[in-house]
Amino acid sequence: MIEQRKSIHGTWSSRWTFILAATGSAVGLGNIWKFPYTAGESGGGAFVLIYLACIFLIGIPIMLGEIMIGRRGRSSPANTMSYLAKQAETSQAWTLLGATGALAGLLILSFYSVVAGWAMAYIFDGFQETSAVAIKADFKIFQANPLALIFWHSLFIFITVMIVARGILKGLEAWINTLMPMLFVIIILLCIYAMQTGAFIEGLSYLFKPDFSKITSDVILTALGQAFFTLSLGMGAIMAYGAYMPADQNIGKTALTVASLDTGVALLAGIAIFPIVFANGLEPSSGPGLVFETLPIAFANMPLGALFGTLFFILLSIAALSSSISLIEPGVAWLVESLKTKRSYAAMALGCFAWILGIFSALSFNLIKEFEIYEMTVFNFTDFLTSKIMLPMGGIFIAIFVGWVMKKEDILEELQMREGVIFKSWYFVVRFIAPIMVGAVILNFLLPDHLKSKASVFIQSILKLFI
Ligand code: TRP
Repeated sequence: MIEQRKSIHGTWSSRWTFILAATGSAVGLGNIWKFPYTAGESGGGAFVLIYLACIFLIGIPIMLGEIMIGRRGRSSPANTMSYLAKQAETSQAWTLLGATGALAGLLILSFYSVVAGWAMAYIFDGFQETSAVAIKADFKIFQANPLALIFWHSLFIFITVMIVARGILKGLEAWINTLMPMLFVIIILLCIYAMQTGAFIEGLSYLFKPDFSKITSDVILTALGQAFFTLSLGMGAIMAYGAYMPADQNIGKTALTVASLDTGVALLAGIAIFPIVFANGLEPSSGPGLVFETLPIAFANMPLGALFGTLFFILLSIAALSSSISLIEPGVAWLVESLKTKRSYAAMALGCFAWILGIFSALSFNLIKEFEIYEMTVFNFTDFLTSKIMLPMGGIFIAIFVGWVMKKEDILEELQMREGVIFKSWYFVVRFIAPIMVGAVILNFLLPDHLKSKASVFIQSILKLFI
């Protein structure tokens, strides 16, 4: 029998709930906003291929590990790590993994909320403007307005804090249950629209036909970072949710379900957006504005478009909310457990932190556009630091903890698995493949430029051998 630790924050009311909550966390702006524009900036098909490989070879195995750690520890990520480290009789330094994860969550929330604010603002767009040029210009004008961006950012953080203050176990379930499928339906509608643009095939081949000469160290790290970001991996969000998971639920199947739904939504978003890009002479590499410059064209031109457009941005904002609460939850749960503070105070304090940082991200589109850290704006730098450094590093340590620190019997027990082929392959991945591959990708990125280009040529020729 598994010795049952109880989470003081409660347990999800049914098996469905974990899947819904984890999918709610995974599916968000990462799929609909970040995936298409990142794929567009990274050259399309080759990026998508590496991204898919990262999801299946590295993301899903680490996700399994992260959920498993969470359920075993049944506390906030920091305290879970501390408890499991004590059990394994190793260093309490593992607590740091939970702590830096909580920090990464707040850093992500700071810029995530800015973009979620754009989505909320677009609820009121009206979708009357049909010309691509005018729609693009509108987005530019909006970005140039610091007060508007700060207003929407503040509103989004405020709503996030309100939900987390009440406790994420209440309320959330019902929402995700009905609203997520609705979002899915509208994305399908957008794909149908994309089929009629005349550039559907062009869009698809951009997305799925890999051009290996586009693969560079940067593209690989970007794809890896996107895989972590979209699966909500590497900072404890899924670990925190795992703590509320019923003991009899199968972790492997659950992780696979969540990752498949998440990947499906991202690909559909890409399938909807790129044909619109090509049919209207837009640039795939136009950056973070891509979704906001393309989808309004579709809504303005389809029957009942104003209705669907409004609904779409409402649902996107809600999808962003069900993600943002998981960004702040690890920190909030930790403060509640450790300082015995009220949930609402903890949520407000951490929300304030993300809010202030986020203001700088919002301003980096207008007033402080020129201010750069390592040649990136505040917004881009925060994204870079979290997606490409903190999450993958977190992933490495999660894999090492599962593969080398925890006892194999405990893992088998928690996963309710026998030591068959599936377990053995997974165990091999978390022990060797994941830490080495992720480490190699980060190191490769840090190489000086001349070595980097040599590494890219080498990787391209290896890929060509296989495909
Ligand atoms: N996965 C979410 C998205 O794609 C964002 C997100 C929520 C996240 N929680 C996270 C990203 C934890 C990294 C880590 O929109």
